[in-house]
Amino acid sequence: MASANYTNHFVFLFQAIFSIFLFFQSSNAATVDVLSFGAKPDGRSDSTVPFLRAWSTACNSIQPATIYIPRGSFLLKQVTFNGPCKKRINFQMDGTLVASSNYWSLGNSGHWILFRKVDRLTIYGGTINAQAKGYWGCRRAGRSCPAGARSITFSWSNNVVVRGLTSLNSQKIHIAVDHCNNVLIQDVHIRAPSGSPNTDGINVQFSKGVTVSHCTIMTGDDCISISQGSTNMWIERVACGPGHGISIGSLGTYVNEAGVQNVTVTNSVFTKTLNGVRIKSWAQPSNGFARDIVFRNLIMNNVYNPIIIDQRYCPGDRGCPRRSSGVKISGVTYDQIRGTSLSPVAINFDCSPSNPCRTIKLKDTKLTYVKGAATSSCRYATGSNNGAVVPRSCLSE
Ligand SMILES: *[C@@H]1O[C@H](CO)[C@@H](O)[C@H](O)[C@H]1NC(C)=O
Repeated sequence: MASANYTNHFVFLFQAIFSIFLFFQSSNAATVDVLSFGAKPDGRSDSTVPFLRAWSTACNSIQPATIYIPRGSFLLKQVTFNGPCKKRINFQMDGTLVASSNYWSLGNSGHWILFRKVDRLTIYGGTINAQAKGYWGCRRAGRSCPAGARSITFSWSNNVVVRGLTSLNSQKIHIAVDHCNNVLIQDVHIRAPSGSPNTDGINVQFSKGVTVSHCTIMTGDDCISISQGSTNMWIERVACGPGHGISIGSLGTYVNEAGVQNVTVTNSVFTKTLNGVRIKSWAQPSNGFARDIVFRNLIMNNVYNPIIIDQRYCPGDRGCPRRSSGVKISGVTYDQIRGTSLSPVAINFDCSPSNPCRTIKLKDTKLTYVKGAATSSCRYATGSNNGAVVPRSCLSE
């Protein structure tokens, strides 16, 4: 009796497992392996065409489709994955995508890997390596170099998830989000040397509902830059540094420009960065704006400018416009920003004479200068203070 009972149990268990298996077989997406389209995991053979064929098959699939990139290294030239696709696409990466170390082949294209007009896309895992060392060398030597390429760009796309990706050594921006809605960038790691020129980690523009969560970004320029037309952005649990910090701007590049609104940066750490949280605009006329910005619970470890608004932005102090910035900055909250400043001016609000910053709020903030007393500096900035603020705030009501 006992043994029959066990047998029944086993039969039942087996059937249960088998039906779960069938369920996944039937409901799960078609899987498209790039190897079966001729991609070679040797890091040398050009796999661009096989990847495009795999994309086209997945994109036309009437079931949700997974493009699988197995372990190994795949050489890709400039590649555009165009939508719209019929169903959801999952880009599952165990392998590494590498660009040619000959930077001329990419540098004139502006983009290396471009996803365009794709709705419901997930990029999962993997590494992309643009191998841009030679390109930076060219830039530093002041030779004639191509304009440079972003490593991975999402353009005119909605409902995108990038999770667990590592991006190394981009020529320029590592991850660009442009004209997108609802994008989640999570558990992503970005690495480029601190001296590499213009290698922003993540850049967002003309996009709504972008979330960056739990990422580590070490780079030569802004860890995250938030450009015109970015709204409803949420950034949390980012470790930034080395790099230039998290920047809103540069704003005021154009006379007619979309504003930046509703951005939160929270629970993040900045280590040895040039800036912590920065808002910057060129000193010239513009209808641009930045409003409803919250910086909360941030740690600064030896950051040169932990809190800065710079409306006379002029990198290298050469050839910049010298007029009054038209960009209107209002409703910016700094709440619980703590740590150490490498410059004496830990809080610096350098706003526009024609459009002073309004409703800046400083709350429970403590920043100390590593070699003495920290100070704050205000120019055309008004707002309020709450709780203990060190260095003492210079905001006028
Ligand atoms: C601000 O953005 C967040 C997402 O970052 C969103 O949840 C919230 O609804 C937005 N607020 C407004 C007023 O749109």
